[in-house]
Amino acid sequence: MAYQAHLQVWRGDADSGELRDYTVEANEGEVVLDLLHRLQATQCPDLAVRWNCKAGKCGSCSAEVNGRPRLTCMTRMSVFAEGETITVTPMRTFPVIKDLVCDVSYNYVKAREVPSFTPPEGLEPGEYRMQQVDVQRSQEFRKCIECFLCQDTCHVIRDHEENKESFSGPRFLMRVAELEMHPLDSYEEAGGNRAEEARGEHGLGMCNITKCCTDVCPEHIQITDNSLIPLKERVADQRYDPITRFFRRKKD
Ligand code: SF4
Ligand code: F3S
Ligand code: FES
Repeated sequence: MAYQAHLQVWRGDADSGELRDYTVEANEGEVVLDLLHRLQATQCPDLAVRWNCKAGKCGSCSAEVNGRPRLTCMTRMSVFAEGETITVTPMRTFPVIKDLVCDVSYNYVKAREVPSFTPPEGLEPGEYRMQQVDVQRSQEFRKCIECFLCQDTCHVIRDHEENKESFSGPRFLMRVAELEMHPLDSYEEAGGNRAEEARGEHGLGMCNITKCCTDVCPEHIQITDNSLIPLKERVADQRYDPITRFFRRKKD
């Protein structure tokens, strides 16, 4: 059954903006992105909204709905009461370009700072052999659709612009953890140390395990339990466990 939904949408640009009220038709089975598209088609042709797949897989339609970081294409209108005002605002952690569209280039800068997978010397693609449990560990992390909702919600950068330089955020610490735990990654043999880089360059110590990143991940990746905490444990082992330190020194 169609009804008239009350939306408040943030309109503006990098210089200024405000919440504006709209009444938009909603139909059974629709999601918030459907209403934004209808608003754009019927009332605000200049409304800037980023989207691509409308299937929860491209990670483009990230915004905040009633203050919670969400994919607008996966947020069903049926979770709100018919008379409720639904507020849609851009992700707060990143600079606004226009309306709901943010500049997420911070994330691409951080992505480039993580050295890529280093295959063992002499092993060709197709010759890699590893335990199923190790394959599954990587697969969980590779479900990431790069929506950056975890980055948006993490308080370390959400409220502290000054931390962006020294903190890579949960998505990219997870990438470091994925490679650090990969049994065939030979970055260390090539002279690197992913755990140490997580602590230093990527600011792992600033994460105080609030798990807000895990709570908002639309792929339900256990970011904190399966990547950030194990990475912290590896850092602690390397730096403070006397036996690990002894064997590492011998190896060096
Ligand atoms: Fe999005 Fe989850 Fe990937 Fe973070 S880890 S970018 S929340 S899919
Ligand atoms: Fe931030 Fe997630 Fe750590 S929200 S503080 S990266 S557990
Ligand atoms: Fe692709 Fe929402 S439009 S995830």
